[in-house]
Amino acid sequence: MPTFTGEEALNYDQRIGKLVPGYALLHQITAAQLAVTLPPNATILVIGAGTGREIIELADANKDWHFIAQDVSADMLAIADQNFTNLGIRERVTIHHGTIGGDAYKADAALCLLVMHFVQGEHDKSALLGQVYTNLKPEGQLYLADLMSPENDFEREAQFQYCHTALGLTEQGVTKMRRNFTNEFFPISTQCLTELLGNIGFSTPTPYFKALGFSAFSTHKCI
Ligand SMILES: C[S@@+](CC[C@H](N)C(=O)[O-])C[C@H]1O[C@@H](n2cnc3c(N)ncnc32)[C@H](O)[C@@H]1O
Repeated sequence: MPTFTGEEALNYDQRIGKLVPGYALLHQITAAQLAVTLPPNATILVIGAGTGREIIELADANKDWHFIAQDVSADMLAIADQNFTNLGIRERVTIHHGTIGGDAYKADAALCLLVMHFVQGEHDKSALLGQVYTNLKPEGQLYLADLMSPENDFEREAQFQYCHTALGLTEQGVTKMRRNFTNEFFPISTQCLTELLGNIGFSTPTPYFKALGFSAFSTHKCI
């Protein structure tokens, strides 16, 4: 996995929009669904919160929502912390550095956007989803987005070309992306994801976003 420390953390916000087609749209339509489904005083657990994009997007949707910003990178969370302070929403956010153990959070919804594809192996992906499950209320929603296994033999190449020609990724960046997709990402199929979620106790995922290799799904905790 990329380290998401030092320069990688500092450059993240400039970089990510060139790597994920529809990055802004993904966040906007995830927020749109939470806005019409969550109660006024909801708690939202954000796994792999990074520099805080999900929370920045959601903070305006309801002024009474509380957020947990969790990440394994202290450098990413430090940037998120500063962003929350600058926007005047810091008091609405609990920052959680490190893995989520136990069941401290009784969240109404959880987001795990662009994170699980970095977790290698079904066992560890399942452990991460299990931690989310135990920190959700019954019926709690989960929104997941990841690089998925390619669905045909041209999707990946189209993605590299699109990032270069439409999103402004340099040729050097494309070369790095090709290498990273092979060495640092661990995509699974929709069928495999459905099985992992079902084994833990989540409902069958509903797809709500797809842009070349990246897909997003909503699901909920079954009692
Ligand atoms: C591509 S960034 C996504 C950040 C944010 N969700 C967004 O959409 O901009 C991936 C983030 O996941 C974090 N991460 C990677 N593995 C993780 C894990 N097992 N648990 C929590 N966070 C993790 C990284 O430190 C990084 O901040």
